[in-house]
Amino acid sequence: MKTISLLKDKKILLGVTGSIACYKAVDLASHLTQAGASVDVMMTEAAMKFVSPLAFRSVTGRPVYHDMWNLEGHVRHVGLGETADLLVIAPVTANTLAKLAYGLADNLLTVTALAARCPILAAPAMDGGMYEHPATQANLATLAQRGVLFAGPAKGRMASGLTGHGRMVEPDELLAQVRLALARKGPLHGRHVVVTTGPTQEALDPVRFISNRSTGKQGLAVAQAALDAGARVTLIAGPVQQALPIGADIIQVTTTQEMADAVLTAVTDADALFMVAAVADFRPQTRSEQKIKKTETDEAWGLAIGLEKTLDILSAVKEQREKTGFPRVALGFAAETQNAFEYGRHKLLRKGLNYIAVNDVTAEGAGFAVDTNKIVLLSSAGVVEEMPLQSKTAVAERLVHHVAKTLNGK
Ligand code: CTP
Repeated sequence: MKTISLLKDKKILLGVTGSIACYKAVDLASHLTQAGASVDVMMTEAAMKFVSPLAFRSVTGRPVYHDMWNLEGHVRHVGLGETADLLVIAPVTANTLAKLAYGLADNLLTVTALAARCPILAAPAMDGGMYEHPATQANLATLAQRGVLFAGPAKGRMASGLTGHGRMVEPDELLAQVRLALARKGPLHGRHVVVTTGPTQEALDPVRFISNRSTGKQGLAVAQAALDAGARVTLIAGPVQQALPIGADIIQVTTTQEMADAVLTAVTDADALFMVAAVADFRPQTRSEQKIKKTETDEAWGLAIGLEKTLDILSAVKEQREKTGFPRVALGFAAETQNAFEYGRHKLLRKGLNYIAVNDVTAEGAGFAVDTNKIVLLSSAGVVEEMPLQSKTAVAERLVHHVAKTLNGK
């Protein structure tokens, strides 16, 4: 795993209570550490029966705290709680939830939770019956009302062999929830951001379509960067094979018209639109209801396909924006194979954009299906930033940074 800007140098306190799901907490601690966070683990006595403190120490490279209830421990909890950016309690048992709801403080973890001034994210793990019990539900409601954030529990098979609600969420989901919790102080907090990604497809018949080489990587990176900046994100995705970011509202589309409809609806209250999708510019004039048979095509010429232009989504957005004022900021991409700068500038003006991210898709390490990109960001005033060849994640963070600055008037 690579460093994640949002997590770099963040202080995460990870409280672990006694459940078979403890092993997933080791994975989470490892992910967080690899992403650049400093992770201090506190374990209850019951947790230590499932996993050894050494497992956590090995992945975090830091001491692991447990229940030595003495003066030293008492001082320690104040320090840990005061300096942390986030307290994650994963897994949290029904028993510890009850203690937290009542403000009990009988071990290092519950004492620290009472003393902590940072947000708390809890990932429940228990048997379905325990989770559904009115006592647990009441405790969860009390804690949620006090601002505690929850990840899961998920539905699935539990240690007892029963299937139901109560399984702790997987480390990937938990990591995403940690990001969402930390993002709440970000520059796009309270903002609605719409991102499009991937190609669109235009069908010739039920088995064939016209499309392009886009894999959606850059748009997915922009959606994640906007989430990390605290935005509510609507991600409108054409057909892509990559995992979609957890925490975004996802709308999956296939054709340009479907993408246009989704975008024009989503931007009605949007602060920003990042139009990253590689939209199909043409579609067949007619779509055959049945598979086109080669025996039916002209022997000598094969098949001639008549194409018509699809809707230019950004031009439609421009028209709507002139009437409504939304989205407040619009950023487009210009995929070029020649005269990138000139063509990019014209597109910016024609489509009424605040920014256009121009990339020469033929340049080494840039464009489709690679993890890096080389962008020049333009506004109507000229070059805003000429970026070096860098990861699509880094590009996304720069784009989000510029749009956030414009929105926040800085
Ligand atoms: N775009 C759009 N609707 C289309 C085609 C493109 O909204 N039907 C958007 C893209 O998402 C991108 C920007 O317009 O943000 C520029 O896309 P690009 O493919 O570079 O340009 P085109 O407008 O298609 O122009 P050309 O084919 O002449 O390069």
